[in-house]
Amino acid sequence: MRQGIACSRRGFARGAMAAGSALLMPAWLRAGSIWPRGKKKPVTAAAPQGATGQDSLRAHAAASGLLYGAAVRPDLLDADGMAAAGTTDGYTQLVGAQCGIVVAENAMKWAALRPSADRFDFAQADKLVRFADLMGQQVRGHNLCWHEALPAWFQSAATKGNAQRLLVEHIQTVAGHFRGRIQSWDVVNEAIEPNDGRPDALRKTPWLDLIGPGYIELAFQTAAQADPAAKLVYNDYGIELDTQEQMVKRGQVLLLARRLKARGIPIHAIGVQSHLQADGPQPGQGLLSFIRELAKIGLDVYITEMDVKTTEPPATPDVEDAAVAKVYADYLTMVLEEPNVPAALTWGLINGQSWLNSQHRNSNGIVQRPLPFDDELKPTPAFFALRSVIDRAYVRAPQAAKPGANPAALPDDLYKPFAVPGSPTGQPAKPESQR
Ligand code: G3I
Repeated sequence: MRQGIACSRRGFARGAMAAGSALLMPAWLRAGSIWPRGKKKPVTAAAPQGATGQDSLRAHAAASGLLYGAAVRPDLLDADGMAAAGTTDGYTQLVGAQCGIVVAENAMKWAALRPSADRFDFAQADKLVRFADLMGQQVRGHNLCWHEALPAWFQSAATKGNAQRLLVEHIQTVAGHFRGRIQSWDVVNEAIEPNDGRPDALRKTPWLDLIGPGYIELAFQTAAQADPAAKLVYNDYGIELDTQEQMVKRGQVLLLARRLKARGIPIHAIGVQSHLQADGPQPGQGLLSFIRELAKIGLDVYITEMDVKTTEPPATPDVEDAAVAKVYADYLTMVLEEPNVPAALTWGLINGQSWLNSQHRNSNGIVQRPLPFDDELKPTPAFFALRSVIDRAYVRAPQAAKPGANPAALPDDLYKPFAVPGSPTGQPAKPESQR
């Protein structure tokens, strides 16, 4: 059966009711009506100019059986205010209104979760998951294994003798902590880099150096055991275009996906980050073929981190916004025609908060306008482009939740930590809160 996403409004209703906060859910979401499957929704002549409630990206995506969402900074969320009776905080309201699914931009990375080798700090990540429960939103986990955002202690503490145990214990503890709450995990992030010159095109990372190529399978197997309900994803960038370099990298990602599937490794989707550009070559047939090849081996494709760098040299804001909106429209129109693309997320909601504008990224001084909302929280042309494409997408069939999704129903012995060589007990390090 094609692995997909359970994205029924009933699922949202259950989620929010379970959190005892049905009243917080948008009225349209409580309605529970689903468009006829496989049909394109009639696009109203005049696209609504509003951007909230029924006019939000969340509402329009849900009506198409799609998941739209964004990367979120839980430190900016007024979760308590929202839990009380609503909040006056603009960012919190925007995230709640626009996202059917959320992902922590940084709060679930090693650097955020692991202040020291023997301590886990889930405070910010828990805040996001609690907020998502309140709002009936699904949650993506990002990410369990990456060569960036490693905590300062890692380099001196990780050795060839303990790295396998470090990785397994991290995944067991983190995926175990959120068990049953995560729609999909980016299990391994950005592990392919053909320019590093290896025949298998693996990026030369600490994980490869310390554990060997098997770290990828180990990560997926551990994640599957720690949270059987989560979809497991390999996530990467620079695989969208038909340039020589990106075609080579995309081909290697496909080979990795095929290898993992052939070896029976639990993987459900490939994340195509989709950090796009308003200028220069645009995604095309090569990406479509890639998506279709993945469908043949039962894998979905998630659009995980969409944003669009503005024109260079810069033009006027209107010209830049129009160029960015066109890329969103063309790109999503193309990929959403493929039935195994159930989710699309932007890497943030508000232009000024984009990583492309943060101090250590925007070295060329150009102010980027890559996202669906401006700094006054008003919808940009990209918002309307995203929404109109979502409206034209055919309606996806809501997927039944994968059997065993309810942790309480799982056999006790399923979650038996790996006996990892070198680990005294094979037990995962207990997060402080559980000590
Ligand atoms: O939290 C610390 C803060 O305490 C400290 O004072 C400050 C000083 O530099 O750094 C803060 O951490 C920063 C973190 O973002 C939180 O703001 C890190 O330096 C900075 O490197 C980190 O950048 C993030 C980057 O991933 C690396 O983790 C970006 O916000 C985030 O947008 C970016 O997202 C990645 C995806 O995870 C993977 N795909 C590519 C994408 C863009 O690079």
